[in-house]
Amino acid sequence: MPVKKLFTSISLVLSLIGAASGLNNSAVNSNHPVTWDQYSLKINGERQFIFSGEFHYYRLPSPDLWDDIFEKFKALGFNTASIYFYWGYHSAKQGVYDFEGVRDLSKLLETAEKYGINVISRAGPYINAEVSEGGYPGWLTTMKSKARLGNPEYETAWKEWLTEVDRYLVPNQIDKDGSIILNQIENEYAYGRDPSYMKAIADKFREDGMTVPSTFNDPWPGDHFARGEGSVDIYGWDGYPVQFDCRSPDIWPTNASTYYREFHSNVNPTQPMAIYEFQGGAFDPWGGPGYDSCRKLVNEQFAKVFYKNNYAQGATIQNLYMAYGGTSWGESPTSSVYTSYDYGAPISEARLMTPKAYEIKLQATFLRDVKPFLTTTNITAEVDNFAIRVDGLRDVNGATTFYIVQHQVTNTTNSDNFHINLSTVDGEFAIPRKANTQITLNGRDAKILTTSYDFGSQHLLYSTSEIFTHIKQDSRDVILVYAYEGEHGEFAISSGFGDIQAYGVNANVSSSFDDSVLQINYIHPEGSTYVSTASSGDRSEMLLIVSGYNSASRWWAPQSSGGETVLVSGPYLVRSAEIEGTQLALTGDTDVDTDIEIIVSDLVSEVTWNGINVKVTTTQYGTLTGKLPGPEEDVEIPDLGQAVWKYSPASPETANDFNDTNWVPADHKTTSNPWQPMMLPVLYADDYGYHTGSLWFRGKFNATSDITRLRVNATMGPGSAWMAWINGDYLGGMTNHFNEFQLNNTVLRQAEENVISLLLWTTGHQEDFVTDDEYKQPRGFSDVSLLGSNTTEISWKVQGNIGGQEIADTVRGPLNEGGLYGERMGWHLPEYPDESWEDATVPDTIGKSGVSWYRTTFELDFPKNYDVPMGIRFSDTKTERYRALLFINGWQLGKYANDLGPQTLFYLPEGLLNHNGKNSIAVAVIAVDEAVTLGEVTLEPYGKLLSAKPAVGMVESPSYSERVSFLI
Ligand code: GAL
Repeated sequence: MPVKKLFTSISLVLSLIGAASGLNNSAVNSNHPVTWDQYSLKINGERQFIFSGEFHYYRLPSPDLWDDIFEKFKALGFNTASIYFYWGYHSAKQGVYDFEGVRDLSKLLETAEKYGINVISRAGPYINAEVSEGGYPGWLTTMKSKARLGNPEYETAWKEWLTEVDRYLVPNQIDKDGSIILNQIENEYAYGRDPSYMKAIADKFREDGMTVPSTFNDPWPGDHFARGEGSVDIYGWDGYPVQFDCRSPDIWPTNASTYYREFHSNVNPTQPMAIYEFQGGAFDPWGGPGYDSCRKLVNEQFAKVFYKNNYAQGATIQNLYMAYGGTSWGESPTSSVYTSYDYGAPISEARLMTPKAYEIKLQATFLRDVKPFLTTTNITAEVDNFAIRVDGLRDVNGATTFYIVQHQVTNTTNSDNFHINLSTVDGEFAIPRKANTQITLNGRDAKILTTSYDFGSQHLLYSTSEIFTHIKQDSRDVILVYAYEGEHGEFAISSGFGDIQAYGVNANVSSSFDDSVLQINYIHPEGSTYVSTASSGDRSEMLLIVSGYNSASRWWAPQSSGGETVLVSGPYLVRSAEIEGTQLALTGDTDVDTDIEIIVSDLVSEVTWNGINVKVTTTQYGTLTGKLPGPEEDVEIPDLGQAVWKYSPASPETANDFNDTNWVPADHKTTSNPWQPMMLPVLYADDYGYHTGSLWFRGKFNATSDITRLRVNATMGPGSAWMAWINGDYLGGMTNHFNEFQLNNTVLRQAEENVISLLLWTTGHQEDFVTDDEYKQPRGFSDVSLLGSNTTEISWKVQGNIGGQEIADTVRGPLNEGGLYGERMGWHLPEYPDESWEDATVPDTIGKSGVSWYRTTFELDFPKNYDVPMGIRFSDTKTERYRALLFINGWQLGKYANDLGPQTLFYLPEGLLNHNGKNSIAVAVIAVDEAVTLGEVTLEPYGKLLSAKPAVGMVESPSYSERVSFLI
């Protein structure tokens, strides 16, 4: 039957090759290591599917953990990391830049390179990214000119940033043996566009020595900067099909985008199709449902359907935003979001694997190893069920044809059975061929089925199961296919013999042999089945591994530095495989006692796991099996409920006699801010050089008897709160921006000095998504008026973080501190002498007003070779309104909103947290209600792994005695 037709259409296919391979572009010249054509990027001449994941170093402020992330990227099959460079993270003041310690970009880029991860650099200048000011430094908020447009003031500012950051990017490009392969210009610049500004950025990068192709991420396929002034070398777009409402995690759009292919062929047909940000999770706002819901919204089913749809459309560059979300620590989050930026990403905030990570590994490994996928054109394809959509993709350099199947209605949960009408060099017939069997597609599933594919010495006619990968085990070809447990599979190869042997768990394996085609049928089992075939002619023996989905999730295909791929099944994570002589050295992590199975050259007789010998036995079907230990040791977690806590009240600013001599007079009569104040003087902290965290304003006036009320209008973002006092008496606190307080003669002191104290607990600044200068929205008050009198003048002073733009702590940087009294006094720092403070218990039982600080220390002593990511959990009833800041060893790792949430568990990255030594914790509680009691504060592990994670050193950072300045 079919095989007769095998080579009849080959001449047709060959004629396509010439037509297709003529284009070869590069940014600068064809000698550049990065070139491209309409099919894919080529790196050093080799085509690659760019399987990229977004990672933000500024969301993991522990540089040794970057090793862990990039190693996990590699293990999961990511070959590229897309990285934003965050201007405001490096610059506290115009002209001042810091690239050391947690900001060390050389280390970052070298670490990526160490693990073979290429980088798409995205230095903005504008980045969005849910960071304060969309990445701009605080000092830019007072710029008179509009940002993201061509004008001299803004240009001077952004050029300064690019000059600084380019010093790190330029030498780390691939043509200088570094990791950067692509360089993005601006970010989603679609609103209020000024092409001359786009072009100026690209020119500046080139002048500074960036040679890699330039890219642009359109927020949607919108044809912005694909052509004309400001256009880039490789245009692409972003896609977030399920958006960001994690409250309804099951709601999907009816259809995945099916117009990408046509758009691409109209707009940038000579470039590969690039999706520079595709949904890897979602951010969650203050008061949102939390990241578990986002992980459900963008789960492994989403990854199956929507990523495969991208491939069906022709994408060969795909970056998942985020692959590891991390932590928006300190004052870095933009106002709408909270500290955790877990994002429901494949690698969780605590650096743990999730089901989506395993799904990504299945896809990325296939795209890494099945090369014809990189040069396809679409062909018409058919199935026998209207509920199913099929996209046919044929390799223009050969005969391999891929059929990507998904549901016509993307969000259906129906399971459907069907056959595909193949039209390949192997013939025209419907698969599966075995009577009473079908291909099954569950609701919210999609499959890439491969046909007419040569691997090793074999010719695959087709497989109705998806391929994970294939390797050579000496002369034997090994291929692993998978589908959900219980689904039928049919796999057909050219063969001289029909004999097969099946091993492992029962999968109802049967076979037929006809006309030199060996057809193997099975039902995907729980676990794996092994089917071996005999060699014949030029064809070697083959081992077909048939896995159920769960078992496939635990197969890994690490590549040794010598280029050999090893198959390993079982462990939670396989980080690396090296073969030396007869020894295979594997590294990785286990979460429980684990059965391991390995497929590697027969020459290997010895296996080590994290340096320790593993006793292995050879199975009948030529694999090695053994056992790995799990994390058996107990890990002691101190009980902070039993700790001795120290407590100090911390709002002396509310007292009339508080000495504010050193505070900055808030006396400006004008501001360039687009949000003009309702009264003067200007009470916008940014105008006085304070851009982050809590702010105090003190206003003095002489009371007259006609004053009746105080009106306050705060300008602040979501999650913020403010409190007002008059002459030390608490007037009240608000979580919305406006209030009027009744004043009466018992509060006011007639003919004497009266003092209004206002504390604003701020969240970050807005972004500038639509180029309207929204990032400048002030933090402070647009109106504080005494009502009833037209004449009362208030004279104001303001205080924010110590030093304002001259930050006191250059190591922790411009986003660590705000203007609370305790922050100004260094109470958050390790070794602060709190002996004289009162003893307290946490949870506290006595209601506290104003600001309160709690401090204690604890020791950890975790076994070496364990990865025990730790967090601090706040447990309290949600009725009391208070805000809190969490400091570990001086680093602000949490902004907690008791009455708003949703975040209650805060990740403490190892390196800031000492896993083998003493730690200092400080909690600042800001009571919005009259008096509040701090609830339980506990240490909580996110998981426990026996791990080969690279060693993590403590980030060096100043303790109290090393702090530069303490002004109050
Ligand atoms: C994109 C933007 C990213 C990030 C993302 C949502 O529009 O380019 O910076 O904000 O949305 O997480």
